[in-house]
Amino acid sequence: MADSEGLQQVRLTPGDEAEAMALSREAGWNQLPGDWRHFIEEGQTLGLRDRSGRLVATGAALPYDGPFGFVSMVIVSETMRRRGLATSLVEECTRHLRQLGLVPILDATEQGQPVYERQGFLPQFRYDRWEIAGDGPAPVNAPAFPAGPEDIARLDSGAFGARRPALLTAFLSRPDTIVVSEGTSGFALLRRGSRAWQAGPVISDTEDAALRLLGRLPIGAVPLFIDVPQRWRKIGAWLKAQGFAIQRSFARMGLHRQAPFGRPDTLFATAGPEFG
Ligand SMILES: CC(C)(COP(=O)(O)OP(=O)(O)OC[C@H]1O[C@@H](n2cnc3c(N)ncnc32)[C@H](O)[C@@H]1OP(=O)(O)O)[C@@H](O)C(=O)NCCC(=O)NCCS
Repeated sequence: MADSEGLQQVRLTPGDEAEAMALSREAGWNQLPGDWRHFIEEGQTLGLRDRSGRLVATGAALPYDGPFGFVSMVIVSETMRRRGLATSLVEECTRHLRQLGLVPILDATEQGQPVYERQGFLPQFRYDRWEIAGDGPAPVNAPAFPAGPEDIARLDSGAFGARRPALLTAFLSRPDTIVVSEGTSGFALLRRGSRAWQAGPVISDTEDAALRLLGRLPIGAVPLFIDVPQRWRKIGAWLKAQGFAIQRSFARMGLHRQAPFGRPDTLFATAGPEFG
């Protein structure tokens, strides 16, 4: 895109993470530079630069190994909003995924949802972001877990509906990532973010088993986010009792597709709205 305001569309490349972080920070999001690197290296991440070269908007298309890919990181700097920039970036990301034969899926904020609805995205389910504050020390790694990387990959792809080995490898290779598991039938992952730690994915057979996993996460007293589908009332009640509150809600949406992929009955927390 090159428009009358002199905006230039670029594809972000390694090295652009710091600028991209400025945008996600402005929006109050939780990404680390490593998360942006993942979108840049594994997906097609578009940016719009103004005449001075400043990055003012982004949007990413992240293909997964399965029937769908994710549209993500749709951010427009506050002074550049309501000019159709998000709409055009989402259209490009959607086109890219469709060319790869993938159904475009995304997790919409309340601000983003109307933009996507106009393009034919349909809501599949809603989830709440629960948040707790804290100023304690970082959680310490839990003892060895019986579920290995293959179990985690199998459980994740079953619940989510697509394989995402690069993402799981990236999460698991970070030195401070923590995983707890129950045999090889469920796991919960905890990773660092820029504003808060993020718990998720949490995958299990039953809500009770998922609750046991959450209870075993060494959450401590750090700021933490967890994105829990609204159907899981017991988990919501448990989080509330621990002092968590709902910060905002997201809608998982599919282009012309209302039926979710995977097994939502085994998905107790997502990996976050940027990854699904
Ligand atoms: C959500 C967000 C990406 C939208 O970006 P945007 O560039 O303002 O979006 P668009 O301009 O394409 O569309 C937004 C609105 O502007 C309107 N619009 C589009 N072009 C316009 C124009 N030329 N003149 C006036 N209004 C226009 C659209 O109709 C739409 O109307 P609505 O507010 O009634 O729904 C932006 O607000 C943002 O970055 N928010 C914070 C991060 C976030 O929530 N991202 C979404 C993640 S799912």
